Amino acid sequence: MITQNTIQQIQSRIDVVEIVGSFVKLKKRGTNYLGLCPFHNEKTPSFTVSPTKEIYKCFGCGRSGNAISFLMEAEKYSYVEALRWLANKYNVEIEETETSPEYKQVQLAADSLYIINHFAQEYFSEQLLETENGQDIALSYLKERGFREDTIKKFQLGYNPEGRDQFTKAALAAQYNIDYLQKSGLVTVREGNQYDNYRGRIIFPIHNQSGKVLGFGARLIKNNDKAPKYINTPENEIYVKSKILYGSYFARQAIDKADECLLVEGYTDVISLHQAGIENVVASGGTSLTPDQLRLIKKYTNNLTIIYDGDGAGIKAALRGLDLALEESLQVKLVLIPDKEDPDSYVNKVGAAAFTNFIAENKKDFILFQLEIALQDAGNDSNKKAAVVNQVAETISKINKAEDFTKQQDYIKRCSELLKIEESGLHALVNKLIREKVNKEENKFSRQRTDEEPPLPDEFSTGATEALSLFNKDELHERAMIRSLLEFGMMEWEPGITVAAHMLKEIEDNNLEELIDNKELVRIIQTYFTWYKEGMEPTAKSFLYHDDLPMSALVVALMDFNYEISSKWKDNYEVIVLSRADLFKEEVHSTLNYLKLRKIKRLISQNQHDLESATKADDQMIFVQIHQHLKKMEIELTKQLGIVIFR
Ligand code: GTP
Ligand code: MN
Repeated sequence: MITQNTIQQIQSRIDVVEIVGSFVKLKKRGTNYLGLCPFHNEKTPSFTVSPTKEIYKCFGCGRSGNAISFLMEAEKYSYVEALRWLANKYNVEIEETETSPEYKQVQLAADSLYIINHFAQEYFSEQLLETENGQDIALSYLKERGFREDTIKKFQLGYNPEGRDQFTKAALAAQYNIDYLQKSGLVTVREGNQYDNYRGRIIFPIHNQSGKVLGFGARLIKNNDKAPKYINTPENEIYVKSKILYGSYFARQAIDKADECLLVEGYTDVISLHQAGIENVVASGGTSLTPDQLRLIKKYTNNLTIIYDGDGAGIKAALRGLDLALEESLQVKLVLIPDKEDPDSYVNKVGAAAFTNFIAENKKDFILFQLEIALQDAGNDSNKKAAVVNQVAETISKINKAEDFTKQQDYIKRCSELLKIEESGLHALVNKLIREKVNKEENKFSRQRTDEEPPLPDEFSTGATEALSLFNKDELHERAMIRSLLEFGMMEWEPGITVAAHMLKEIEDNNLEELIDNKELVRIIQTYFTWYKEGMEPTAKSFLYHDDLPMSALVVALMDFNYEISSKWKDNYEVIVLSRADLFKEEVHSTLNYLKLRKIKRLISQNQHDLESATKADDQMIFVQIHQHLKKMEIELTKQLGIVIFR
């Protein structure tokens, strides 16, 4: 492991503008730098880098981080790879120590699983190809289905014989550890007995990008109703389903060359298409695509063609989550295979040339296709139809307008035809959605405080971080409180008392866990006050390069750019713009009070509940008194906050 000393040396030399600037063209804007976001498509720059805070943040897609996380994100480096890259750039010599026990543990597990999988793969192949049983039962089945021997070897297919524990015995004899064998999913232990998990099944090894075996799919030779057709490796240190695309190891180069990735459902589809010479193909395993899988595809190409059976069940799963593909500006097309065939059976039936032709001629646009399916589902229900219209408008609004204006117009035209509605109506709806999005982004420049509500920190009104809007308002307030602690903690609350000291007292009086729901945020506060009590003067920067990456990422996400921007406003316009720093007392006060108020409301409702279920008069009396006391506190806090309580 890289030593702490080396890491600190690297951190002390990091110049975030220089690092990010070597991947993104940046222009100075006030104290910050601005450029086009490398993580999403945009025409007007909203990607901001702050040299003083040593972070970047995109107000379009919401991504944020430090120089290290930038490298991890932009270059797909691991944490250690990013550190090595930086060490090389800044000529820092790397010192390494013994690895930590936990890391060693994970590493060991991963290594052991790879080794076991390798052993298993060779064992299963041998069973398939070299044993009489394997040849009679399994190889003959594969050949009957049309798989050639060279194909079988290339994909390293295998066979787990029918005996109860033939594989298990071989693995144990070769000194493999029973715990890892279980973890790998190859062996099950039930009531002290060990079983081959995949007995009597054809084995499909699943490879990672460099060809190592991550896990297996295992297929029954004869379908029966009692057992699932396929069983897969359970999630473990190396088999993470959401990150796996079957066949990607064999398809990489072909995808690159064709500048197109074909996506099918099953293992056998991938293999048959390969055998037919169509090699730019991967499988998702019949579930909806995950962001990680989309990202994997996007590393190679912008063109994704989904080829599924016509029956509709799988295709619906595949369509879920594809709005994300639009935002990443992947071009998604769809082809449905006719007549109850799947790509495997169809290519075997019509041959490679006809198959390729069929794909080329039947590619459907993903948006139009989705619309067709939704319309079929909605039938004559007008409520459902309205929902479909909204959905399609939402989808169209996600196309980056500036970059693809004509495409967007074209969609509006064709979708309104399918929907049988006025083109202008859909047009207006799409524009409204786009405007809403733009407005949200512009709001960050026009922060106006109203008296009805405690001030929400700027970031929350920007809509820049779409994901944030998913959070409930309570969480926004929790975040706001922590942010004011991080930014203003060392300022003076009252003569001789820092904001941090004031907050610490409030938090101790109120019990942290009852004040803040989000456990991650609780952790930040605890860490802050541990440092504080040790005599440190913590700031957001203290967390910036913390080796707890999720915590550091969360702190970065909480950080604010805007009062730096406002200093430029002051130069340009002769108005006084009060920044958060000017108003920090108000912010500290109102964020704390909001959370205290929330706590009291919860206590009131709990007490109400107790009162209702109390049977003795004495008890009831006490609960009533508590109620009055709490109510008084509520009113007091509300007065201070200046807000009206609705509930
Ligand atoms: P064949 O029937 O051998 O042609 O396989 P297929 O790949 O055509 O299977 P199908 O179209 O039924 O399913 C597509 C994919 O979904 C498979 O390759 C598996 O990855 C997955 N799958 C199918 N059935 C099951 C099952 O019973 N359990 C699990 N976990 N996955 C399944
Ligand atoms: Mn099939």
